Amino acid sequence: MARHVYHLDLDETKVRNANFAFLPGDPGRVPFIAQTLDENSREIAYNREFRTYICDFKGKNILVTSTGIGGPSTSIVVDELAKLGIKNFIRIGTTGAIQERINPGDVVITSGSVRLDGASKDYAPIQYPAVSNHEILGALVKAAKETNIPYHVGITASTDTFYSGQERYDSHSGYVIKRLQGTMEEWKKLNVLNYEMESSTLLTMASTFGLKAGVVCGVIVNRMKQENIDESLVGRVEKNTIDVAVKSLEILIADNFI
Ligand code: URA
Repeated sequence: MARHVYHLDLDETKVRNANFAFLPGDPGRVPFIAQTLDENSREIAYNREFRTYICDFKGKNILVTSTGIGGPSTSIVVDELAKLGIKNFIRIGTTGAIQERINPGDVVITSGSVRLDGASKDYAPIQYPAVSNHEILGALVKAAKETNIPYHVGITASTDTFYSGQERYDSHSGYVIKRLQGTMEEWKKLNVLNYEMESSTLLTMASTFGLKAGVVCGVIVNRMKQENIDESLVGRVEKNTIDVAVKSLEILIADNFI
C-alpha cells in the first residue's frame, strides 16, 4: 500500500515521484502559484492549513504545499513531504524589512536564519546553523537578476510570534516583555535584513535531513518607516516573489539540479 502521511493527507501515489516543493504559508496562495507553473495543475489534498497542488512544469512533477504560519506547522510539512521523497524546497513568503534601504515590493533571499523559533530546537541544538542550500540560493539570486526584481541577500530573523517576537507594540496589550524590548534595533544593528516566521524551521530541518532548501520573501512592510501593512501592496509583492521563485525553478531544472 502507498505510504500515507496524516496531516497533509498525501500518499506516494498522489505525489507521483515529485522531488521538489514550493512552500507558501497561505493555503489561499497555493492555486495561484500552481497555475503560474501549470494551467492544468490540480489540487490533490486540503486538510487543515495544508493545501497541496501538483503541477507539471517543464516535464517535472512539482508540488505546491502551504505550511500555515510558523514553525510547528512548517515542521509537519517538511517532515511529511520528506517521508514521501521530496528532497528540495523553496519557501515563498512575505516579510517585514528592518533595514532602511529595503523597500516594499523588493524580495529578500535568505542566506541563513536566526533561530528565534521553538520548532527547530526539536530537530537540532541551537548551535546548529539554519542555512540555505548554496545552489538554491544561487538560483534565487540569478532569478531575481533576470526578472529585474530588486533583491537583497542576507540574514533573516525567524520568530514564533508576529507581535511580541518581532517587537510590535501595535498588539492587543501594547506591551512587549522586557526580554524582547530593543530586539528589533539589535537585529538591525547586527545586519539582519528582515523578520518572518518559517525559514529557521525549514532550513534547520532540511540540513539535518540531508535535503536542500532556500527561502525568498516579498517585503510587505518596512518596520523602520511604518508598522501598518499596506494591504493594497500585497498582491503585487506576492507576484514579484512568485516570479522570482518560478524563474529559480526554471534555472535549477536547466542546471539538472532536479
Ligand atoms: N511576516 C512576518 O512575519 N512579519 C512581517 O512583518 C510581515 C510578514
